[in-house]
Amino acid sequence: MNLPYKVDLQNRIVAITGGSGVLGSAMSEALALCGASVAILGRNIEKSRLVLSRIESAGGKAIAVTCDVTDKQSLGKALDTVTGAFGKVDILINGAGGNMPQGTTSMERLDLSLMQGGNPLQTFFDLTPEAIRQVMDLNFTGALLACQVFGRDMAARGSGHIINISSMSGIRPLTKVPAYSAAKAALTNFTQWLAVYLAKCGIRVNAIAPGFFLTEQNRHLLQNADGSLTPRAQTILAHTPMGRFGNPYDLTGALLWLASDEASGFVTGAVIPVDGGFSAFAGV
Ligand SMILES: NC(=O)c1ccc[n+]([C@@H]2O[C@H](COP(=O)([O-])OP(=O)(O)OC[C@H]3O[C@@H](n4cnc5c(N)ncnc54)[C@H](O)[C@@H]3O)[C@@H](O)[C@H]2O)c1
Repeated sequence: MNLPYKVDLQNRIVAITGGSGVLGSAMSEALALCGASVAILGRNIEKSRLVLSRIESAGGKAIAVTCDVTDKQSLGKALDTVTGAFGKVDILINGAGGNMPQGTTSMERLDLSLMQGGNPLQTFFDLTPEAIRQVMDLNFTGALLACQVFGRDMAARGSGHIINISSMSGIRPLTKVPAYSAAKAALTNFTQWLAVYLAKCGIRVNAIAPGFFLTEQNRHLLQNADGSLTPRAQTILAHTPMGRFGNPYDLTGALLWLASDEASGFVTGAVIPVDGGFSAFAGV
């Protein structure tokens, strides 16, 4: 992996939820290459171990920790494991997240003919409370709970940094994904709230809002079975002035800048778009 530049994260301990995911693993590896000790938190320990072994083969330091961000007890155990291994957590990255098909409407706009019975398509009115709750729990409440668990420890020490991984959908709601958009909007808003709340405790709170990255969680929305782009993917590219999807390493520069107190020590409450210009473009 090539870094755009290096920051000094020697002796810094990072806990990253969703650290084994497509974006999370790229972030974990970049932080380790800058000297950080990285705790990869995720539900699936095998996936986390794969990232761990890549980090170790590159000479970095990491551990894999089982953690379900929707369960506060599980987060508490994860904190104990990380502090047991590394002594403390300096930086928490809330990267666990994603949409689920059950929280997605079939069409971008309601067509009244879909309201007749026997239609297999899913309208907004069909989304179940369980699906909505699951998406909110994973993308918003899970990050909030992690901020409570890890933030308390940071506050007790008087230093720390939290980086939330939000989304463009938190800035402008995307069609078809109402719960995901609302959850990321809540996370963006909460980032600013918590930044203010913790500002005098030596804790910074910021977010990165990625634009569109072709990954496993959105592949079914963006690619047809034959690999060609869906109409939705084509619309996204038409609204992304740089005309391409991001790749996970496009996040590295913003991440390292935020992770370094020397580089961004006066930055808190910021939500940094990394989106090829999507949020700046009105479409005309
Ligand atoms: N891929 C994109 O285009 C895109 C765009 C904007 C924002 N994001 C956000 O970036 C983050 C990472 O996305 P990604 O594309 O790498 O997704 P991904 O599905 O590859 O990774 C998500 C990770 O979260 C973990 N996870 C899921 N549920 C969990 C739980 N309950 N507890 C702990 N870990 C859990 C998964 O195991 C996985 O490692 C997410 O928050 C996502 O919403 C992604």
